[in-house]
Amino acid sequence: MQTDIPPDADPAIRTIAMSSDTNPAGDIFGGWLLSQMDLAAGSVAARYARGRCVTVAIDKIVFVEPVKVGDEVTVYALLVETGRSSMKFEVSAWRRMCDGEDVRKVTGALFTFVALGSDGRPRPLLPAK
Ligand SMILES: CC(C)(COP(=O)(O)OP(=O)(O)OC[C@H]1O[C@@H](n2cnc3c(N)ncnc32)[C@H](O)[C@@H]1OP(=O)(O)O)[C@@H](O)C(=O)NCCC(=O)NCCS
Repeated sequence: MQTDIPPDADPAIRTIAMSSDTNPAGDIFGGWLLSQMDLAAGSVAARYARGRCVTVAIDKIVFVEPVKVGDEVTVYALLVETGRSSMKFEVSAWRRMCDGEDVRKVTGALFTFVALGSDGRPRPLLPAK
């Protein structure tokens, strides 16, 4: 469901969509947006886990509307669930046209990350600070 009210939280990242990120139709390539969301959630995951994390799953991805060249893209990554080694994040991307204040949700997905130990295997999350 589209709300057009961004989360009341600090964004994980904010960037500008460039012409080098377009698909053949001229809109921003969905894979670029997905990589921004992965970067954003990965950064929050590594911070929470205090160590290396990997993406293990991306679920429920929905592309709601296109992103255009020049849009400011903001990504939020909200921790919604933790397991022994895993963290689930509700990740959403929002666009703001460079010449206005209107903010629209463009993409949402559920990302699962796993904290890894030095052996490259899942390790338990550390107690919250
Ligand atoms: C992540 C990885 C180490 C997990 O290995 P594994 O043998 O499945 O490990 P486990 O079975 O012990 O599961 C570890 C955790 O991942 C979760 N998990 C595994 N597969 C999952 C899936 N498809 N969806 C959601 N969670 C999953 C498990 O539920 C478990 O969570 P918990 O510890 O909180 O209970 C392994 O799948 C891997 O290396 N994947 C590649 C990651 C990668 O390269 N990502 C892209 C670049 S970052």
